[in-house]
This record gives sequence, C-alpha cells and structure tokens, in this order.
Amino acid sequence: MSPLHVTRALPEDATDAALRADVRRGLTVRPKWLPPKWFYDARGSELFERITALPEYYPTRAEREILADRAGEIAAASGARTLVELGSGSSEKTRYLIDALPALAVYVPVDVSESALTQAGRALMTKRPGLDVHALIADFTAPLALPKTPGPRLVAFLGGTIGNLLPAERAAFLASVRGLLAPGDGLLLGTDLVKDERVLVRAYDDAAGVTAAFNKNVLTVVNRELDADFDPAAFDHVALWDVEREWIEMRLRSRTAQTVKVPALNLAVDFAAGEELRTEVSAKFRKDGVSAELAAAGLELTHWWTDTEGRFALSLSLAR
Ligand code: SAH
Ligand code: TRP
Repeated sequence: MSPLHVTRALPEDATDAALRADVRRGLTVRPKWLPPKWFYDARGSELFERITALPEYYPTRAEREILADRAGEIAAASGARTLVELGSGSSEKTRYLIDALPALAVYVPVDVSESALTQAGRALMTKRPGLDVHALIADFTAPLALPKTPGPRLVAFLGGTIGNLLPAERAAFLASVRGLLAPGDGLLLGTDLVKDERVLVRAYDDAAGVTAAFNKNVLTVVNRELDADFDPAAFDHVALWDVEREWIEMRLRSRTAQTVKVPALNLAVDFAAGEELRTEVSAKFRKDGVSAELAAAGLELTHWWTDTEGRFALSLSLAR
C-alpha cells in the first residue's frame, strides 16, 4: 500500500495569527461576526458528521443520491487521473466517484481539519490500496499549491460548501479554482437549491439541537485558543432565511447583557441583551445563477444533475 502523504500548507502559528486577526476584527464591529472556517476543529468536524445524518438535513442524502446515480457519467465526462477535493471532510460521498474512476492515480483531499483528513485518508487507503492519497491541510480561500500530478484533473467541491462563501468571495474562489485547471479539466460543484423556507430553516435548526451545538462550537474554539470566557449556554442558536439574498444566516444571540473577555487579544467585548453574532451564511442557488458565476470565472457548465426531489444539484463545468 502506498503511504498516506499529509502536507501542512498551514503552519500552526499562521492559523493562530489568522484566528486572532479574525476574532479581533469580527468582535469589534457591528454587527459582530466570525468566519466559518473556525467551526471545524476535531469536535466541529465530528458535529458536522452528525448533522449529515439528521432527518432534517437533506443536502448530504440528496447529493449522495446524485453521486450514486451519476458517478459513471461524471467519470466518463472528466476522465480524471487526478481528483482534488476542496473541503473534503470525511470524503464519504467521494467514494462513489473514486470507485467510478478506474484510471484515477492520485486523490488530493484538501481541508483545514487535520483530524478529518487523516481519518478519511486512512479509511480510503484500505478500500483502494493502489491509490496515491496526498492530503493537504490548507485553507481553500487562500492560494493553493497542489502537488504535481498527472492530468486530466477534476476538482470537486461538494456539500454545498460554496454557499458558505459570500458572493464576492465566491467569485474570487471560482477564479482561483479555474487557475488550478488546464483547458478541458473539470469542476464538480455541489450546490443546494432554493426551496420552501420551512424545509431550509429546519435543516439548520434541527430538533435534536446538533446544529445549535455546532454553531456554538465556534465559541469553544475561541475559548480554547484565545483563553476567552464565552459561556455557550448564554447564547441561543438562530437560523433565518434571507429572502432577498437567498441564503440561510446562522447567528448566536446573546441571552443577556454580558461582557466576554478575550485575554489573548487584551479585549473585552460587550454584548447587549438580544445582540446577535453572525457566524455563517449558507447560500441557496438556481441553475441560471450557478451557470453565470461559473462562466464569469472561465468555466463552462456542461452537465446539471439533481436528486429526484430537485433539492440539490451537482454541476460539471469545464475550463475554457
Ligand atoms: N465535503 C464534505 C464536508 C462538507 S463540510 C461533505 O460534503 O460532507 C465543509 C468542510 O470544509 C469541512 O470539512 C471543513 O473543515 C472544510 N472547510 C471549511 N472552510 C474551509 C477552508 N477555508 N479551507 C479548507 N477547508 C475548509
Ligand atoms: N456546508 C454546510 C451547509 O451550508 C455547512 C453547515 C451545515 C453548517 N449546517 C451548518 C454551517 C450549521 C454552520 C451551521 O449546509
């Protein structure tokens, strides 16, 4: 069996500096906000895996259905020898693609979560011993240096994670993905679709409270890394649908007037009763919008597949 290569493109101290900068910036403006990548420490990754199994959280099941049905078509259209996956997490659904790509030589999962990457990498290598797995601990919103691997290349970005970027970040992200591709290489993109508001809100505010725990985990990360004294129980999880922007917005609402100390930043942060801290958006898409955003980045949409209920889409686009 070839060994699991793990490359850390994120030095520990760079992560620390980025977290400090984000927390200082986010907690000293109005409205307060924190960027989503800090959700995913080991516990955050574990909580996300539990979200994917919740009855209310349909995106994972819908995307898995499409991959199970269409992996052969995707494989034939891309002919990939290298599969790069951004925000790969558990790589669980990716198995369908890998199994459908007999010529695949290298799989490059990219994630900020080291625990998710090493677990996923080990599980894959026992299932596909000939495959070269080169895991990359990196931030996909920063310029990526990929290992030299054989083409054609397919970049996969699943789970609707693109919806967690704001529109301007999305445009920059797609342009940088285009930069990783040679003409004819592909992007396989998972996008959750606009649908009934109640279905959407329930997916981000489940009855068992797993999403609430996931949302509050960002406070635990700040407590651990920056010595802060957030009391997660002093905040309520809020998920709401923004009709104009067509995104779900996740917030943490302070139950009382309180002051939170962040000693590592020499910061005391006042929250008014009911004040909200924005933690994440999850944008929902329509085919025309996806196609236009891809085109703006130099990617031409060639395939559009949805699950039978039309809740989620996978698109394949090719670099021009
Ligand atoms: N693709 C998986 C996981 C989706 S959850 C699925 O479809 O189920 C989002 C994943 O992206 C998590 O594993 C998280 O650790 C990772 N992630 C979030 N922001 C990131 C960033 N800026 N750079 C790299 N990985 C990131
Ligand atoms: N990419 C996932 C999504 O937008 C991430 C996610 C699911 C999430 N549930 C969440 C992020 C709850 C924050 C809070 O669906």
